[in-house]
Amino acid sequence: MMTCLGVGMKAAGEQSHTVRITTGKTDLVFKTSPDNRLYQVYFGEKLKNASDLDNFQWNNRAGYHREINARGWEVYSCYGSDERYEPALAMTHSDGKMLTYLYYEGSEQKSVPGGTETIIRMKDDKYPVNVNLHYVAYPEENVIKTWSEIVHKEKKPVNIWRYASTILYFYASDYYLTEYHGDWAREGQPASQRLEYGKKIIDSQTGTQAAQLSEPFFELGIDGPVKENEGKVLSGTIGWTGNFSFTFQVDNSGNLSVIPAINSFASNYSLKPGKIFTTPEFIFTYSDTGAGQASRNLHDWARNYEVKDGTKDRMTILNNWENTFFDFDEHKIVSIIKEAKDLGVDLFLLDDGWFGNKYPRRNDAQGLGDWEETHTKLPGGIPALVKAAKETGVKFGIWIEPEMVSPKSELFEKHPDWAIRIPNRKTYYARNQLVLDLSNPEVQDFVYGVIDNIMKKAPGVAYFKWDCNSVFTNTYSPYNGENQNQLYIDYVRGLYKVMQRVKANYPDLPMMLCSSGGARCDYEALKYFTEFWASDDTDPFERLYIQWSLSKFFPVKTLASHVTNWNSSSSIKFRTDVASMCKLGFDINLAGMSKENMDFCRQAVKNYNSMKPVILDGDMYHLVSPYESDHMAVNYVSKDKSSAVLFCYDLRPRFRSAAPVVYIQGLDPVKRYRITETNLMPGAKSSLPFDGQTFSGDYLMKTGLNILNYYQGVSHVIELKAE
Ligand code: DGJ
Repeated sequence: MMTCLGVGMKAAGEQSHTVRITTGKTDLVFKTSPDNRLYQVYFGEKLKNASDLDNFQWNNRAGYHREINARGWEVYSCYGSDERYEPALAMTHSDGKMLTYLYYEGSEQKSVPGGTETIIRMKDDKYPVNVNLHYVAYPEENVIKTWSEIVHKEKKPVNIWRYASTILYFYASDYYLTEYHGDWAREGQPASQRLEYGKKIIDSQTGTQAAQLSEPFFELGIDGPVKENEGKVLSGTIGWTGNFSFTFQVDNSGNLSVIPAINSFASNYSLKPGKIFTTPEFIFTYSDTGAGQASRNLHDWARNYEVKDGTKDRMTILNNWENTFFDFDEHKIVSIIKEAKDLGVDLFLLDDGWFGNKYPRRNDAQGLGDWEETHTKLPGGIPALVKAAKETGVKFGIWIEPEMVSPKSELFEKHPDWAIRIPNRKTYYARNQLVLDLSNPEVQDFVYGVIDNIMKKAPGVAYFKWDCNSVFTNTYSPYNGENQNQLYIDYVRGLYKVMQRVKANYPDLPMMLCSSGGARCDYEALKYFTEFWASDDTDPFERLYIQWSLSKFFPVKTLASHVTNWNSSSSIKFRTDVASMCKLGFDINLAGMSKENMDFCRQAVKNYNSMKPVILDGDMYHLVSPYESDHMAVNYVSKDKSSAVLFCYDLRPRFRSAAPVVYIQGLDPVKRYRITETNLMPGAKSSLPFDGQTFSGDYLMKTGLNILNYYQGVSHVIELKAE
């Protein structure tokens, strides 16, 4: 039910409209100027008195600001107007002119699951151009997501070359940005800097794998550097599985504008009359008690409203990739399925190498696109494997990489024009493959068909791992004709069309998104995927850094983490304890394990199953950062505070160096918690003096536990149960 908002108010003798976007803790307030343009007047801690909104008064020298020479904070500023800095929108109209003014037309609010959506209607007074600004505020989780729709009725297409999701403005003494960058097997590396005059841009321009070098999320410290438990922090992330950009611009007067957008690099977009250009969602939360609270806000919101099956359970997995690579047959896979059962996990996942007949996928140089089981390897095909899994008592999942094609494949022989490439130029391959042109509806049908055909052939398939191992190279769409600069955007839209079909027709199918590890991790993709593969780097030491960063933005139930043989000199316990703080799986040759290690893993799966509700659905606290120490510690607390799980890891501290005390967080100070160390090697006893003892939550949070040490590669998993 839509209600009219636009509260009429008097400001400096003129009628103004106020739009208030509000959560339980934060207010974002806009007001119109006397000439009816829309300005941000406030963003920050929630204002207690609604009447205080009247205090924002327009004055002709400084707009809604108290400072002289401050510029107006126009909510969706446009190129060509009086805006002197990076705008939200820039377009070349069909008459060739490049000037746009947006005026406030009205606004409505309606209830949506978990919150309230505000829609603000803006329009140009000279051109038939309309922009709708959408804001959904989630009061409980203190999260706001916002996006914009651009549409016009000019006689011919208009060319849009800036199309931000939104702009947020700040005025503070200092701004500190923590961004996250990475590479293959090195995801989520934080880097912090003070923002000074000028622009700082974080972006990506690889088409696919768009989160590999720069991650689509950040933390902004306002008035000081980002800290975990104190200070004002904005945590933001953009839901776009393609080229994105965040522009942070500090102007001459010290205002900061934050502009999240699809990266407009090589992407001037020709927008046809009547077609709506919808920007991605920018999701943000504001905390005045540090980044930790911001991360918990995002986790709660994501599980409740954004992630596919966000409140549902997750399966434990045995994958065969690092065990067999391409070298397997039906007999081998059936024996690994039995090992999965013996280990006690829920599902066996068959990875790359199961398809292709003319060009069997015996290595990564051929076969992508030919999604038929290799008959010589798997004579009974997928149905026989699903049957074997069912008889064994585990579920069966399968790997696909449906957006890609090997030049050595039947698909490429038949449809060379489906690949992104320029035929008469030197071709560059990433992992010997090309990207299929998902802007082409025929290709979308084909990609959807990869899943649909498998599900029709073997309806018992219970899980997909969707991989993506190449960036765009020789970027050219044979389908897009003259509109080459739309490819980066239309590709992602094509991808979403496919994902929407998969979700509509197979709503209960869990899926993992993978991209040479974690080169795709954003909240739009997570509407369709239950989890993503955080990194190919499963060396437990390195993995802790990656999991620390990614879990600032994503709930750990979306972070698949497997026990493997990367750094097999570290103990199986250390490797398993690291994977157990996220969504646990194994990708290792179990048959080659010692009895002791295998017994440990079996028990660790059982332990994980009993702790899983707290780990996956509890509140997460980042306690000891591996970036600031040679250790790492996190704890999870159930929503009713009756149980908690603490993970502590010693990385590579120097001999006899002092280790930080672990101050557990989020407990009920009054409750008494019994401490039990779990995930011990068979027959081992806890070395912790307080194992088995009971302490109040208050004591544990204030005095902490001396649990970290200067040993290398040592870990402890501790359960706390209120009595
Ligand atoms: C890259 C992924 O990150 C790996 O986990 C594995 O699935 C391979 N691709 C298979 O080719």
